[in-house]
Amino acid sequence: MYLVFEGIEGSGKSVQIKLLYQFLVDRGYSVFVTKEPGSTLIGTEIRAILLNSRNINIHKSTEIFLYLADRSEHIDKVVKPNLNSFDFIISDRSFYSTLVYQGFGRGIDLNFLNYLNNFVVGDTVPDKIFLLDCPVDIGLKRALTRESLKDIDESRFENENFDFHKRVRDGYLNIANSSRENWFIIDSSSDVDTVFDSIKRVVVDFIDNGRN
Ligand SMILES: Nc1ncnc2c1ncn2[C@@H]1O[C@H](COP(=O)(O)OP(=O)(O)O)[C@@H](O)[C@H]1O
Ligand SMILES: [Mg+2]
Repeated sequence: MYLVFEGIEGSGKSVQIKLLYQFLVDRGYSVFVTKEPGSTLIGTEIRAILLNSRNINIHKSTEIFLYLADRSEHIDKVVKPNLNSFDFIISDRSFYSTLVYQGFGRGIDLNFLNYLNNFVVGDTVPDKIFLLDCPVDIGLKRALTRESLKDIDESRFENENFDFHKRVRDGYLNIANSSRENWFIIDSSSDVDTVFDSIKRVVVDFIDNGRN
């Protein structure tokens, strides 16, 4: 099963993925955790360009094509080769991030982005997507605190304006609400354990259903 976590900066993706990884491994499943951007050799270099705040003026097409280049490598070298050898692949972000950040956030045509995404991922699409949803001010506050503790600069998005993040949050909700069957909207504004309980409930449910 190919699971993806999506959500704004500071919504809790990294923290919840770690908890889910441990939860599944403790139950005997093999789990592979990965992320976009930056899970391949080329991707690591692209990530450094994409997330460093010195590149705040990156052109929107440059941004799209760098994300797509990272994704091509990620799907080809990481996701596809591991899909059949693990019970679960959990990815921190996916092509949906492009649809939301570049589409809803920067105003690029969604059909065009769907076309490009489809060219890159083909039929390697996630089975289930968790949207960690929280108000922008909560997410940004968490993310800015986290970034202030890092020794590398990955804060380009944290430095975007509030309205951009608001469009991103609303974009996610829009997509999730219009494709309900494989999206799970998780309220991630409460404490880490409460959020994880909601995720666990969903996961246990589809594990149990899969057995029937
Ligand atoms: N539910 C939560 N309540 C309080 N702080 C949280 C919560 N979830 C995550 N954090 C903290 O907020 C910061 C951002 O979380 P993180 O998992 O890195 O978000 P993301 O990966 O979605 O950007 C981290 O420092 C993390 O420890
Ligand atoms: Mg993260």
